Amino acid sequence: MNQPTIIQTPEYPILLDVNAGQSLDAFLNTKAYSKLFVLMDENTYAHCYPLLAADSEILLEAELLVIDAGEENKSIAIAAQLWESLTEADADRHTLLINLGGGIVSDLGGFVASTFKRGMDFVNIPTTLLAMVDASIGGKTGVNLGRFKNQIGVFSSPKHLIIDVRFLETLAQEQIVSAFAEMIKHGLIADQNYYEELAAIPHLDLKTLTPHIEKSIRIKKQFVDQDPNEKGLRKALNFGHSIGHALESFFMETQNPLLHGEAVALGMIAEAYLSNKLLEMPIHQLKSIQELIKTHFKHQRIKADQIEAIAELVFHDKKKEGKKLNFSLLNQIGSCKINIQVSKKEIENALKYIVYELSN
Ligand SMILES: NC(=O)c1ccc[n+]([C@@H]2O[C@H](COP(=O)([O-])OP(=O)(O)OC[C@H]3O[C@@H](n4cnc5c(N)ncnc54)[C@H](O)[C@@H]3O)[C@@H](O)[C@H]2O)c1
Repeated sequence: MNQPTIIQTPEYPILLDVNAGQSLDAFLNTKAYSKLFVLMDENTYAHCYPLLAADSEILLEAELLVIDAGEENKSIAIAAQLWESLTEADADRHTLLINLGGGIVSDLGGFVASTFKRGMDFVNIPTTLLAMVDASIGGKTGVNLGRFKNQIGVFSSPKHLIIDVRFLETLAQEQIVSAFAEMIKHGLIADQNYYEELAAIPHLDLKTLTPHIEKSIRIKKQFVDQDPNEKGLRKALNFGHSIGHALESFFMETQNPLLHGEAVALGMIAEAYLSNKLLEMPIHQLKSIQELIKTHFKHQRIKADQIEAIAELVFHDKKKEGKKLNFSLLNQIGSCKINIQVSKKEIENALKYIVYELSN
């Protein structure tokens, strides 16, 4: 393990390269919570809980809440089940929820904790690379409503965020690649040198990517600290997500669901195309982004006859039809502009672009 690093946000510290169990105990020793709960999914219960529990004495007192893995469980129904479990186990406002898992667990657990009895504390211990570099940071918590992503939620920050990269050793390769999408995004919106460093990595694995966790955290933190409730600047972090979320929703209920990062990667090609059309981002930069994504991500899934339905999902509120949506786009790699108006026709053209480019 490297030397621990502490990255202080206005509301909580992010502890990087620490032993999670020991760090959790050190935090809990300074508090007097009435009860402790650990939320996990089936995989983090199997792979990550033993590692955490091995070094935490206090965790022996905790009650365990285990959900099925998968995006479909980031739902209001599972949130309601968790509120019921907390109630049955006499949780109160002085109880702590420890979220041990990927972005599903931190989004869902953060939401459940923040709304239970008008809010109890929670701690995030991310176990996927995507949650370490992005999802567990920044205070966005919530659940999906049917196929619409993150429709119900609140801004609410953890009291402590503990990153122990040993958890990543059991993570599937496709999940490591998925995280790379959010890491590239950090470079694209804020730091051309970081983008180029990432683009130069020949093979995505833990050895090549974990050294970059800190840089991604610092870029995300820089946006969140300045605009915690996404009134302006923070919207840059949505680059790739307007179309990416629609792709994720569209394929969610099919035989071939996309991982969050896979959907964002395709969304970034589409939104890089729009960046070139609407903000004159240089064409060679569009090509660089799309080649990088084509090199690392699965990309064969969108068909021409699916474009209209996906564009509708981007505009999922029908009342917006005929109007324009605000996107965050790049004027060049490393620099993002927010509130750029995009029409449905332009979104369809961007989707046609990815269908064409990905079939070649
Ligand atoms: N709140 C935010 O700011 C934010 C930002 C980005 C993404 N997100 C959300 O995050 C979610 C995606 O997060 P994710 O990619 O971490 O997905 P995830 O939580 O579903 O984890 C991916 C898979 O890996 C398994 N897993 C987790 N840790 C493991 C480990 N150490 N070893 C073995 N298996 C492990 C999980 O059980 C799951 O099957 C999406 O819902 C997305 O919308 C939120």
